[in-house]
Amino acid sequence: MLKNKNIVLGVTGGIAAYKACALTSKLTQKGANVRVVMTESATQFVTPLTFQALSRNPVYTDTFDEKDPHKIAHIDLADWADVVLLAPTTANMIGKIAGGLADDMLSTILLATQAPVYIAPAMNVHMYQHPAVIQNMQKLDEWGYKFIEPGSGYLACGYVGKGRLEEPETIITVLEKDLHVPERLLQGLKVLISAGPTRESIDPIRFFTNHSSGKMGFALAEAAATAGADVTLITGPVSLTTDKPINRIDVNTAEEMYQAMLAHFPKQDIVIKSAAVADYRPTVTYKQKMKKQDGNLSIEMERTNDILKELGRRKQNQFLVGFAAETENVLSYAKKKIEQKNLDAIVVNDVTQSGAGFASDTNQVTYLNRSGMEKQLDLASKQDIAAEVIRLIVQDRTKGEH
Ligand code: PMT
Repeated sequence: MLKNKNIVLGVTGGIAAYKACALTSKLTQKGANVRVVMTESATQFVTPLTFQALSRNPVYTDTFDEKDPHKIAHIDLADWADVVLLAPTTANMIGKIAGGLADDMLSTILLATQAPVYIAPAMNVHMYQHPAVIQNMQKLDEWGYKFIEPGSGYLACGYVGKGRLEEPETIITVLEKDLHVPERLLQGLKVLISAGPTRESIDPIRFFTNHSSGKMGFALAEAAATAGADVTLITGPVSLTTDKPINRIDVNTAEEMYQAMLAHFPKQDIVIKSAAVADYRPTVTYKQKMKKQDGNLSIEMERTNDILKELGRRKQNQFLVGFAAETENVLSYAKKKIEQKNLDAIVVNDVTQSGAGFASDTNQVTYLNRSGMEKQLDLASKQDIAAEVIRLIVQDRTKGEH
């Protein structure tokens, strides 16, 4: 479950920093990409070289130590992270976050990141019980930070009590449970997904369509169902089946998809539009087979309804996600679509890339949200991409308090 997950591990200055070494090693063994950021005090306990060797990545200690001139390191790390884990976390760092301070690399990343942040405190038992620390932790809890509570036992300062950094194995179990698309993630929510192509007939025999197989949309519907959602899947003509509990509605044309989507839209919490809908249809559909004649044939086409745009217009509390299949200026076209169609997020694939887009079993996409966050997902199976997209949607939706 942690394979290929991007984890920023923040290590602050306490004796428990030595346990962060084991944590780094175990996370790396599980296939996570770990980038360690240390406060200056943490470097008094363990050297950056130890974490560099264990994570096989450079270690960050200084906001101004820019390793790549093309990137601003603290923003790049903040955006790169799927999750930020602070272990051990001192009372000082908890106070800094609660006060909104950003005076070193780690606290700056914490202000900039949109990823979930897990805090594993470690300190003396009396420090842990101090009203200032308790109040700061309550504030962070209200802001959505997740705490991995310290254990009780013998502390390095000689006291016995609560304040010992939780064991690396337990910290990893907490992350694994949360980072997978867990069953409860969409529990009680209604999710509407569109998939596949549409067919626009010229006559009873011929039609205009596209290469969409429905694989991306079905993978999304299955990921949402696994996460506990009540899923409605409106699909164009595809040869796929699913054994998940999904309310499947088959349609053919863009107009049928338009009517079905509009009918189901009002009751939904999340709507994901991954179908490749025809933008044009023949102005006339002949009832009888068109007979061939000498010379060229021109067919007049008219615009179909833009379903997503209409959903964007009608949107109330729904979290609305579009897809975009692009062949050039991929990100800038996708950003325009967020505005034009009043979306909360868009998933864009460059369909000229091998292994991405139409009909393949894999995809490579970038998820962009309304507040400018861009998350590029590496080439992976459509199932893995779908699980990650669902996770990003839940994260965004929670922040936006839809
Ligand atoms: O089905 P697969 O073979 O697995 O392939 C997946 C996919 C490539 C089809 C999928 O990943 C994808 O990119 N889907 C969107 C394709 C598309 O139509 O993109 P677009 O940029 O033309 O449209 C933008 C958005 O507007 C889409 O959400 C689309 O559903 C929507 N739209 C478009 C036209 C229209 N008349 N009504 C719409 O709602």
